[in-house]
Amino acid sequence: MVPTPKSSGSIHQFGGDWTAQKLEVLSGYLGAYTKVLKHQPFRTAYIDAFAGSGTIDAHRDGEPPTPQSLLFPELVAEEPKKLLDGSARIALQTQPRFDKYIFIERRPDRCAELERLKSEFPDLALDIDVRPGEANAQIQALCAKKWDGRRAVLFLDPYGMQVEWQTIEAVARTKAIDLWILFPLGIGVNRLLTKSGDIPQSWRRRLDLLLGTTDWYDEFYEIETTPTLFGETERLVKATMETIGRYFNDRLREIFAGVAEQPGVLRNSSSPLYLLCFAVSNEKACKPALRIAEHLLKGVR
Ligand SMILES: C[S@@+](CC[C@H](N)C(=O)[O-])C[C@H]1O[C@@H](n2cnc3c(N)ncnc32)[C@H](O)[C@@H]1O
Repeated sequence: MVPTPKSSGSIHQFGGDWTAQKLEVLSGYLGAYTKVLKHQPFRTAYIDAFAGSGTIDAHRDGEPPTPQSLLFPELVAEEPKKLLDGSARIALQTQPRFDKYIFIERRPDRCAELERLKSEFPDLALDIDVRPGEANAQIQALCAKKWDGRRAVLFLDPYGMQVEWQTIEAVARTKAIDLWILFPLGIGVNRLLTKSGDIPQSWRRRLDLLLGTTDWYDEFYEIETTPTLFGETERLVKATMETIGRYFNDRLREIFAGVAEQPGVLRNSSSPLYLLCFAVSNEKACKPALRIAEHLLKGVR
C-alpha cells in the first residue's frame, strides 16, 4: 500500500520508516555542511520548499493489523502518535547554525505552525522567513537573485510530481546551492507510465514538466521483436524502475557540477517509493559535498 498524505489538525501525517530515513540523511548533511562552512566567508541558508508544519506523525505505512488493532481499534487510535521532528525543525536544531532559514509552504495552516517555530527558537526568530506560496514559483524567483558570497542547502520534499525541471535548472544555475530532492519513482512516475503505453495527455504533461523534456517516451518504452515460426511478434516493453531512476539521475548530471552516483532508495515494505537524490551546483564544493552525501546515502539502499 502506498502512503497517502493525511491531514490531522496541525500535525502533518505522512510516511513510515522511510520518512525517518530521509530526515536522518538530511540531518547528517546539514550538520556536516554548517561545520565545513563555519570558517568560510559565506552567508549560509537552509531553504525548504515543501516545508510542511515542522512536525510529522510518521505512521508505519503498510504495517499489517495486529490482533489488538482488529479487536479494539478505538484503543489503538488512542495510542500516542509517533511524532518526528520534520525537516524545518531539524534545520533549526542544526549546530553550528545557518545564517538564514527560508520555509516555503502552500498550506496556510502549516505556515501558521512554521511561524510558531519562531517562539520555540527565539534566538533564530529574526532569521526565520516563512513564505506562503507555490514552491516552483518561489524557488525560481529566489534562484534568479544574486548569489555572490552566499551558499545554501535546498530540500525539495514533495508528496508527488510537483517539482518542475525548470526549477531544478534554476537551482543548478546559482552555482551556490546543494540540492536534496525526492524523486517520485514508484509513487509517481512508474504509475503514470502505463503498461499499455497509452498515457493520458494530462499525465504526459506532468511527466514533461518533471523531466524537462518530451523525449522520455522513447527512453521508457521499447518494442521487443521476437521471431516465431509464423513470423515476428512485437511487444511493448516498459522500462524498469532502475532504468527510470537512472534516467533522472543522469538528467541531473547534465546540469549540475556533481551528482551522487547512487541515490538513496526510500521504500515501503514491498517497493521503492522515492529516490533521494543529491546534486551540487558549485564546482569547487563538489568533492567535499559528494563525499559527505555519498557516505550518508550508503545507509539508504
Ligand atoms: C512531504 S510534505 C513535506 C514534509 C517536510 N519536508 C517535513 O519533513 O516535515 C510536502 C509538503 O509540501 C506542501 N506542498 C505540496 N505542494 C506544494 C507546492 N506546490 N508548493 C508548496 N508547498 C507544497 C504540502 O502542503 C506538504 O506540507
